Amino acid sequence: MAHRLDPLKLPAHIAIIMDGNGRWAARRHLPRVQGHQAGVDAVRDAVEACARMGISVLTLYAFSTENWKRPQLEVTTLMRLLKRYLKQERHTLVEHHIRFRMIGRHEGLPADIRAELASAERETADAAGMQFNIALNYSGRAEIVDAARRAVALGLGADALDEQRFGSLLYTAGQPDPDLLIRTSGEMRVSNFLLWQIAYAEIHVTDVLWPDFRCRHLLEAVLDYQQRERRYGGIKQPARRRRSP
Ligand code: FPP
Repeated sequence: MAHRLDPLKLPAHIAIIMDGNGRWAARRHLPRVQGHQAGVDAVRDAVEACARMGISVLTLYAFSTENWKRPQLEVTTLMRLLKRYLKQERHTLVEHHIRFRMIGRHEGLPADIRAELASAERETADAAGMQFNIALNYSGRAEIVDAARRAVALGLGADALDEQRFGSLLYTAGQPDPDLLIRTSGEMRVSNFLLWQIAYAEIHVTDVLWPDFRCRHLLEAVLDYQQRERRYGGIKQPARRRRSP
């Protein structure tokens, strides 16, 4: 399938709503947390596949501000999995020149998770390869509110604010907006994810549950994206062309 990809029409930024871990586990009569555990392998696959493909930015939605309402065991398991992932994958990220960044609110996260995130960010800060964002304790509306608060704190008046300046106050400042938003498990929702940034994203929804999502599904999504006509509210335009990485 990879040979069908047009390297000049790759999405610069892919954002993924990883959904279906619970259903994956339920279908196997396993506890939900096993679904999250299996989901970590899919995370590894997606990061590797995107880096190999030459994607500039990958953003994965790992934990929303609403996810704190889940049972305590599930929340602590998710935090534990994330911490373990960051510890175990650190060398792979460094080796592949992947720059890691957490996007979301730091307040409310356990101290050990914050420390792990900070050290992964620090160690990969100078990497010149793919930007890898994990959205954690994230809410698109909260991100917009945080940007508005920063604008106020910076003393920016109405005249100084336009879309570009406002975008530079978001967690994703300096990064291109997602061209492709993928959601697994068939749900047709954006779930408060990157609300500002997905204004013109192409959306690909697959029935595949996140723990089953593999490189071939990612290729399918990118091929689907490459068939789309991007119009940005105007008239017919081919999918964005950019230089080969
Ligand atoms: C949605 O499935 C998935 C999540 C809320 C968490 C995603 C987390 C991981 C894949 C593992 C840890 C992440 C990293 C980055 C190492 P769901 O539980 O809502 O599934 P359901 O809709 O079938 O119940």
